[in-house]
Amino acid sequence: LLGATGAVGQRYITMLSGHPLISLEVVMGNRSANKKYGEAVQWLSAEPIPEEFAAKKILESSPESADGCDVIFSALPAHAANDIEMEFARAGFTVVSEASAHRMNSDVPLMIPEVNAEHLKLLDLQRRNRSWKGSLVTTPNCTVTGLAIVLKPIVQNFNCSRVIVTSMQAVSGAGFPGVSSMLIVENVIPYIEGEEEKVARETTKILGKLKDGGVTPVEIPMALSCNRVPVLDGHLETLYVELNERVTPEEVAGTLDSFVGPPQEMRLPTAPDRPIIVRKEKDRPQPRLDRLSGSVPGMSVVVGRIRRGIDDRSIQMTLLSHNTIRGAAGNAILTLELMARKGYV
Ligand SMILES: NC(=O)c1ccc[n+]([C@@H]2O[C@H](COP(=O)([O-])OP(=O)(O)OC[C@H]3O[C@@H](n4cnc5c(N)ncnc54)[C@H](OP(=O)(O)O)[C@@H]3O)[C@@H](O)[C@H]2O)c1
Repeated sequence: LLGATGAVGQRYITMLSGHPLISLEVVMGNRSANKKYGEAVQWLSAEPIPEEFAAKKILESSPESADGCDVIFSALPAHAANDIEMEFARAGFTVVSEASAHRMNSDVPLMIPEVNAEHLKLLDLQRRNRSWKGSLVTTPNCTVTGLAIVLKPIVQNFNCSRVIVTSMQAVSGAGFPGVSSMLIVENVIPYIEGEEEKVARETTKILGKLKDGGVTPVEIPMALSCNRVPVLDGHLETLYVELNERVTPEEVAGTLDSFVGPPQEMRLPTAPDRPIIVRKEKDRPQPRLDRLSGSVPGMSVVVGRIRRGIDDRSIQMTLLSHNTIRGAAGNAILTLELMARKGYV
């Protein structure tokens, strides 16, 4: 695990403790290298550090440190990920990355297992292009994950023409120590650098179709407004969808509620029974109450307030997804489980 001490790295530590298929052997860092994990990390969760990791020594972030491992999870910042992840892939490792550095490369899959499992086929192209034995797979930005999971059944079942999203993003989305408390307490920051462009780009790639060896992004114009709010975990997003057909809120709710993907069919260990949970109360979802919902806590997207838009060809709703679980570590772990089941690892 690269970036083991960060906000996302810590989620990997808790989610991989006792995992039935994946054994986390090596934790790597930068400033924390050569220290014991429990002493170097500023632990953020109320749950204690799993015992088997507290005394583990953090190693330098180099392929030699991971000798004997098959897969590298990367929770590095993009600037560090750029070269380090390539070094690991060249050395023959399968790299599953949270970072934005390589997400938009044409031969790199950007994965949400329920949404675009077939995009793993890009790995054949990647191996040919780069003549390396390893592979590089990425997972999306934390605001994208919940949005793309909800848009998938909508795009699949209805003729969708435009999408408008306003996000209210938790502070843990900015990593640790992230946004200064002086800026965020009692405040909302109506700008996150590069986020709106990133969300539109990544969402349309994920919802795109495999064609001629690459991914053709779905052609749905999207308008985004991304905001940072004083919430610890859990990104809330309001979603407005315009359609080229009449649709009722009940039809949309039914489609979302019954949505499942390959991870549910394959019963992968980190797959929630229901990727989307639809709530009927008028004031849900809420980050504090709903972010750990579902059979695998934090892996389901919770949707509520599904209602008509300005006419009967538009629908609006509110969605919530846990940014460091479904939006990061959990989605990457599920991706590796899918890759293993499909013979890519
Ligand atoms: N936070 C989220 O909700 C979220 C969601 C989806 C994706 N992501 C992405 O996930 C990645 C990690 O995010 P985060 O929020 O966990 O960040 P973070 O809290 O800032 O943690 C960064 C980690 O990377 C390590 N690191 C930094 N520079 C390094 C270098 N040059 N070489 C090796 N290790 C280095 C740090 O290790 P030391 O402590 O040892 O220096 C630390 O463990 C980012 O790319 C982010 O965009 C985050």
